[in-house]
Amino acid sequence: MFKRWLAKPPGTFNYHFDDGLRVQVSPIRPEHAPRFEAGYQQLSEASRRMRFFGQLSGLSSKQLEFLTRPDGRLHIAYGALNLAQPEEPGVGVARCIRLDGDSRIAEIGITILDQYQGRGVGQLLHACLHRAGHMAGLKQFIYDVSADNERFIRHLQALGARQVSRDRDVVRLMLPVLGRGNALSNHTAAAGRLRRLLDAVAAAKPAPALS
Ligand SMILES: CC(C)(COP(=O)(O)OP(=O)(O)OC[C@H]1O[C@@H](n2cnc3c(N)ncnc32)[C@H](O)[C@@H]1OP(=O)(O)O)[C@@H](O)C(=O)NCCC(=O)NCCS
Repeated sequence: MFKRWLAKPPGTFNYHFDDGLRVQVSPIRPEHAPRFEAGYQQLSEASRRMRFFGQLSGLSSKQLEFLTRPDGRLHIAYGALNLAQPEEPGVGVARCIRLDGDSRIAEIGITILDQYQGRGVGQLLHACLHRAGHMAGLKQFIYDVSADNERFIRHLQALGARQVSRDRDVVRLMLPVLGRGNALSNHTAAAGRLRRLLDAVAAAKPAPALS
């Protein structure tokens, strides 16, 4: 019980993937705004559509301010940088936003720059949201996924998410918030990977933050 009181949501830490990619993960801060602007410009049309369901030409100053000032309770956000290329805009971002101030439910969005997709960073940031969301008292995550993003829908289902609605363009899924790896069974390869990442995030040692 005492340990649980001492536990904190993930801060800044470094993580090494088996393929050699080394990233720094940190909670999003206002000084990340230029990285957001540059990263958005690098996103392919397909990724923008899958994440934002539209084709904005860029982010407005109001949007940038919102995206880079999460409060850690109503709005939680983590980003990853490639430690070997820190001057790049970044690798990706994941965030969750509570449906309303008192709700135990939050909606998740994850965006990984195209050149980094499929290397595990999305799952690592996803694990950070589960850990931080659990500590902030969240119970369920909602995922609104583009209906043609079948691969990611299957991935969420392999983690145990259930589909709660579907229209022509968007599939909505829900998954309980997982504080630790042992909250998830090893029933699929994807669940086993997230389980290991949840444990790695819980055990991560703090690292000095790059800007
Ligand atoms: C979907 C996305 C967030 C996954 O992050 P990632 O770092 O690429 O993925 P990971 O390597 O951690 O793998 C996790 C799952 O993502 C999916 N994924 C991986 N690469 C992908 C790609 N290029 N396109 C679509 N889905 C992909 C897979 O389902 C994978 O799980 P699986 O190996 O069990 O099938 C990322 O590809 C992305 O930003 N896509 C565009 C925006 C988007 O679709 N966001 C999701 C809506 S919230």
